[in-house]
Amino acid sequence: MCGIVGYTGPRQAFPVVLKGLKRLEYRGYDSAGVALLKNGNLSVYKKKGKVADLEEHLIGKDIEANIGIGHTRWATHGEPSDRNAHPHSSASGRLAMIHNGIIENYAQIKQELVKKGYQFSSDTDTEVLLNFIEDIRNNNNSSLEEAIRIALKRVTGAYCILLIDQDDPHTIIAARKGSPLVIGIGKGEHFLASDASPIIEYTKEVVYVNDYELAIVKPDELILKNLGNEKITPYITKLDMELAAIEKGGYDHFMLKEIFEQPSTIYDCLRGRLDANAGTIRMSGIDKNIEQLKNANRIMIVACGTSWHAGLVAEYIIEELCRIPVEVEYASEFRYRNPIINKGDVIIAVSQSGETADTLVALERAKENGAFIFGIVNVVGSSIARLSHAGAYTHAGPEIGVASTKAFTGQLAVLCMMALNIAHAKGTISEDRYKKLLLELEEVPEKIDSILKNAEEVKKIADVYKDASDFLFLGRGYNFPIALEGALKLKEISYIHAEGYPAAEMKHGPIALVSETLPVVFIATKDPYHEKIVSNMQEIKARKGKIISIITEGDEVTPPLSDHYFSIPPADEIIAPILSVVPLQLLSYYVGTAKGLDVDKPRNLAKSVTVE
Ligand code: G6P
Repeated sequence: MCGIVGYTGPRQAFPVVLKGLKRLEYRGYDSAGVALLKNGNLSVYKKKGKVADLEEHLIGKDIEANIGIGHTRWATHGEPSDRNAHPHSSASGRLAMIHNGIIENYAQIKQELVKKGYQFSSDTDTEVLLNFIEDIRNNNNSSLEEAIRIALKRVTGAYCILLIDQDDPHTIIAARKGSPLVIGIGKGEHFLASDASPIIEYTKEVVYVNDYELAIVKPDELILKNLGNEKITPYITKLDMELAAIEKGGYDHFMLKEIFEQPSTIYDCLRGRLDANAGTIRMSGIDKNIEQLKNANRIMIVACGTSWHAGLVAEYIIEELCRIPVEVEYASEFRYRNPIINKGDVIIAVSQSGETADTLVALERAKENGAFIFGIVNVVGSSIARLSHAGAYTHAGPEIGVASTKAFTGQLAVLCMMALNIAHAKGTISEDRYKKLLLELEEVPEKIDSILKNAEEVKKIADVYKDASDFLFLGRGYNFPIALEGALKLKEISYIHAEGYPAAEMKHGPIALVSETLPVVFIATKDPYHEKIVSNMQEIKARKGKIISIITEGDEVTPPLSDHYFSIPPADEIIAPILSVVPLQLLSYYVGTAKGLDVDKPRNLAKSVTVE
């Protein structure tokens, strides 16, 4: 949450920072601001609203500068407003700072500062930290760098901060704990950002800053230090990302582009790993740790949001194929409930961003307790990827739409391959079934492609139901988590209240909601319990609910029961969720756009939740 950008070098800083903020807007978009430094003059401009509002606000203003920092906000402390927007200025006006994260003990520090006579012009924890730093610098007569170090040792919480000082015309000082920071290394210039997307078009050489590190960044020098003032050699890595991957490429929205990218993202995810003809799955993170994985007493999957739903599907798959008990936990619960972690337990972390604060901290705790951590992450080099003992990337490419789509199907593909790999090594799957599932996985990109060719059919359904006030999503077995995901997508994108339920459990409550105005989406693909879900459809029909069903091509039983249906290609029940979720992604997209909503930036949400 919150996106931060910084630039120091020979270019005009403002265009670099502004473009970077637009790329990072998925991280938060309730207000935005920049601080620019020119000839010892520090100018701070900020505005409630989106980055485009800031841009408009700055027309005609003096924005010339070769050093600048910018911020796009997802409010934590203080409502979205001009005065709570970042950057914040220190009491003397000499320092400007942006911050991503939460300073948990800010109230106590604020009290101390108020006693000393400080006044605050915002409700933010950020302004408190900034004045605390300035106070230390004044009292101790220390350098800014030293003051930051002292302050950061006192604060609890998460932060990535960028500061500029009007008396130091070329330097940005940055520090992180818990919130991401990437530094791009150019020729005589440096770029700083929450992720690599603002940097990619200028340089591919980057340094991922670690927790408790401080970066002193000048145009031609990057110094990294720990909080003990010891120098650290920056580890430079090469970005494996193209500019086209972070642009809309002719689509109206990133979300639609990302839905339509799924045939190729799944192909990329399987490529070089799965060889159905040879009957092999090669994934180095799994191969190297296969003994640990196949002998696990228990697997715990820890995740949030859509990634948690991928974990739920995996629970069904791993228990079925590998015969290992699986528990799926919300990271936010896991981290606070003192879970029992035994030797031999494996923790699988599932995360698109690799930065979700709850997941990250849950893993840190589990690691301290001796658990083996396997990360399934999309963003290469992210914190969770680095913290894991082993892992597998989903290779879905940058996902910019706030609602997760292609990352989810990538997670399912990886989890499927992982389960097949373990089951094969363990001997809990027959050779026939193993080969059949490998072949079916290989066919997934083509099958998604054929679903997408009929996207217009989903749009027609969306137009019919766009004004409904509630939706119910029902599924059984492997498709139960898909019902949850379908409901979550619709809530996120269209602000329509929606609930996902196991189809049979519907009788224990939600059936009371059924009336002729309630659309009920059944994920009713052909599987061994198809007859059961048909009975559930009858129950809804008898109560005059409107039925929209996702069915398998050739199914003749469900269409007469449905007001609308959408067919997907036949697939084994283990593979079906990767397909059945696609029409639900389209449904939420088309409902959202039919309602005229900003589907890429739904209200109140952020893509990467780096606060708890
Ligand atoms: C936010 C996003 C969701 C995402 C969840 C977990 O809520 O809006 O799309 O599923 O965080 O994020 P992660 O990056 O850990 O998968």
